[in-house]
Amino acid sequence: MSDAPAPPLTAIPPDIKALADYERRAQAHMPPAAWTYLQEGTGDGVTLAANRAAFDRIGLVPRVLRDLRGATTHIELLGRTHAAPLLLAPVAYQRIAHPEGELATVRAATAMGIGMTVSTLASVTLEEIAAARQAAATELGTAPAPLWFQLYMQPGREASLALVRRAEAAGYEALMLTVDASIKRSGFTLPPGVEAANLRAARPTQTAQPLGRILFGTPLLDAAPRWEDLAWLRAQTRLPLLVKGIMAPDDALRALDHGADALVLSNHGGRVLDGMPAPIALLPAVAQAVAGRAPLLLDSGIRRGADIARALALGAAAVLVGRPQVHALAVAGMAGVAHALLILRTELELTMAQLGCPTVADLAPDRLLTAPTPVEGEPFRHSPRA
Ligand code: FNR
Repeated sequence: MSDAPAPPLTAIPPDIKALADYERRAQAHMPPAAWTYLQEGTGDGVTLAANRAAFDRIGLVPRVLRDLRGATTHIELLGRTHAAPLLLAPVAYQRIAHPEGELATVRAATAMGIGMTVSTLASVTLEEIAAARQAAATELGTAPAPLWFQLYMQPGREASLALVRRAEAAGYEALMLTVDASIKRSGFTLPPGVEAANLRAARPTQTAQPLGRILFGTPLLDAAPRWEDLAWLRAQTRLPLLVKGIMAPDDALRALDHGADALVLSNHGGRVLDGMPAPIALLPAVAQAVAGRAPLLLDSGIRRGADIARALALGAAAVLVGRPQVHALAVAGMAGVAHALLILRTELELTMAQLGCPTVADLAPDRLLTAPTPVEGEPFRHSPRA
């Protein structure tokens, strides 16, 4: 028997009814090292597990006999309408899962009217992805879905600025600066033919380690972005700017003071620091601190439409999904990703209907029952929605 991954399916198997079904099937469609890279959490995987467990602890309290005529999942976010409070999170190197990689993902997002965030480390150039969105929208006769660019600060501001200018020129509608992963290490070796396509022109980074240094005092740490870099970036572009990887209320306020237009609460899907709580557990405290000054987005552990409803009820404006898009991409390419988004959207509508919420603005803490958590303090103290 060959160990080669199974090719993507050309039709969606009828037994796929939830995102977990894509996850269950995806391993067979990916090389083992790529699968490990996709799924792994850092350390002992405590944070990875917490991301799911935190959602499961939040009960849903329905309201019956409400008038649901005209119900909608639409939201307004950063100056435009989104069909649902859901976007695709930036996930690097999607061609490890499917030969079309990000091109298949953006076509699926366009078909479903769901926004996509393209990673700095995409395996297809940001220009090709933008062109594929436009072509898909034209072919389908729909408006192009929101397209955002995720920025990792590059060594040297000119290189970061070059990426920003490319994203602006290609029609990206927002910038998402990721701030939680600049000292993340990965042992993953890219398979032949997969590369960080946006960084082809970049000079190789300085990797020499000063003798006897571990992390402190090394070029990696010394080059890590700082608050002044956020202020610099804010001054370079008129695009809406999101900061991804915020967890603490004081950092949230600081990011807004430095010009962020929106924040993404995230622990990077449990990939950077084991021991971080799930973002959903910190959302009420951050929402209380931010007090409606800016929209809060959230990712890490979203697997069900009900999770979207939970996050919105606790004060999020929208959520993002990371790994599930790659599971669906590996199993069935564009059709798989579109189907996964349809599943989430359908589950969200069912949940909103059961909760008696015709609009996302009706999702409020009174629809939730939050059990005590093992963490000290009151992470689920509710603040009124701004
Ligand atoms: C990521 N994530 C990520 N984030 C980012 O800002 N830029 C990136 O290039 C990547 N790349 C990446 C690769 C892989 C394989 C994974 C799993 C994740 C983090 C991602 O945007 C998101 O925060 C998490 O994936 C959310 O958690 P879930 O939905 O995977 O549980």
